[in-house]
Amino acid sequence: MKHIPEYKIKKDIKLDEEQQKEYEKIKEKIIQQNLNNQDIQQDIKKVEIEIKKHTNNTQIISKLLKDINNYGKLDELLKDDELEEVMIIGDMKPVYVYHRQHGMMQTNIKLTSNETREIIEKIANNVQRKIDIQTPIVDARLDDGSRINATIPPISVDGPTLTIRKFRKNPYTIVDLIKSNTINIHFAAFMWLAIEGMGVKSSNIIIAGGTGSGKTTTLNTLTTFIPPYERIITIEDTLEMQIPHNHIIRNETRPPNIENKGEITMDLLLKNSLRQRPDRIIVGEVRTNEAITLFGALNTGHSGMGTVHANSAHETITRLINPPMNVPPIMIKSINYIIMQNRLYNPKLGTIRRISEVAEVVGMEDEHIQLNKIFTYDPSCDMLRYVAINSITLNEIAKLKNITNHKINEEIEKRKQYIQSYIDKYPGTSDIEHLQRYINNYYFS
Ligand SMILES: Nc1ncnc2c1ncn2[C@@H]1O[C@H](COP(=O)(O)OP(=O)(O)O)[C@@H](O)[C@H]1O
Ligand SMILES: [Mg+2]
Repeated sequence: MKHIPEYKIKKDIKLDEEQQKEYEKIKEKIIQQNLNNQDIQQDIKKVEIEIKKHTNNTQIISKLLKDINNYGKLDELLKDDELEEVMIIGDMKPVYVYHRQHGMMQTNIKLTSNETREIIEKIANNVQRKIDIQTPIVDARLDDGSRINATIPPISVDGPTLTIRKFRKNPYTIVDLIKSNTINIHFAAFMWLAIEGMGVKSSNIIIAGGTGSGKTTTLNTLTTFIPPYERIITIEDTLEMQIPHNHIIRNETRPPNIENKGEITMDLLLKNSLRQRPDRIIVGEVRTNEAITLFGALNTGHSGMGTVHANSAHETITRLINPPMNVPPIMIKSINYIIMQNRLYNPKLGTIRRISEVAEVVGMEDEHIQLNKIFTYDPSCDMLRYVAINSITLNEIAKLKNITNHKINEEIEKRKQYIQSYIDKYPGTSDIEHLQRYINNYYFS
């Protein structure tokens, strides 16, 4: 058994006993006022004036401002972009965090039930929701896109809990994935050509893998290759995608309310998106009956990308054509590529994420869907290898453009070099907007 690593934050502002009492008294008053008055809540200057009516002790003032303006003791955790999750599990229990590098960590912060409750109420209040005995569970989103789930007793027996899934301010880019060896430049350039389609045929792509394998992240990075003139519509259960594209409509499903009304499903959003003249439809995760709508769209000439939970390319198809997705097998052909992603354990490197296979859907033969391997992962040298003799999708692009397959390979080579030149030119940069501009400039270079 290994010890759980510790995550230390700087000490909180320390008050002596008397100051603490005064602090609590003022806080009570301010919070009362604050929660009843949206104006004050919007304007921290007003809060400061209000506090100063009660005290001129600077320690108390800064502690109060810290509490009221933000999320008190949690602020430092929320600011750290290396943390994926912040978790409060109950009264005076250590707050846990999930760190990108170190995994689960225990912090030196503890909150009383009251402190947690205050934070929860503040968050709920911001989105015009409330948490109480009638509704002891709240799902909400913070302004920065982070998702929160809060519960209070009697649901959570040991006190109020708060689980914050933080929104990454600086999302992974295709270049990050190349650098971390999740993919390689050849894969990136190949997908660029397939997704952009040289203006004649954009590929439909499914990214499959287990939970937490990095499907959504890979999907997000691949959207960089959607040409700038296209209209993108995204549909997700929870907002995760961060696509630096100008012309985009983002949609999020809504669960039913307590009376079981008002649900907006993925299927409904997808059907609606078809009335919005999309060039590219992006579905966060295909799970159930929306699959038929999606494949209907793909079969009538729309382009799309999405993720599916599955452990192999074959299983992806099996899942798609069986309940609850029920896609007619004949429609599967509309997918061009299935990208398999895995989370692996490597004795030297620890947890790693790798694209393990890219399969091209080539057609149907006696009811069976035929797959053509394009890339496979070689674990012995930790490398994604191009194994195809050719790709029918790229051949089709060549035909439509009236160019040779050789020209297509040259184009992939050119794009490889273009991506490499970005890496050489901006070795430290990992800014998705910056990269997007660079990729978009390719067409004018
Ligand atoms: N290629 C990658 N390298 C390192 N970390 C990754 C990679 N892809 C995803 N992650 C991290 O793994 C977690 C799960 O990723 P996500 O894309 O949401 O997975 P999935 O959609 O398969 O459930 C996220 O915290 C993400 O930041
Ligand atoms: Mg996902």
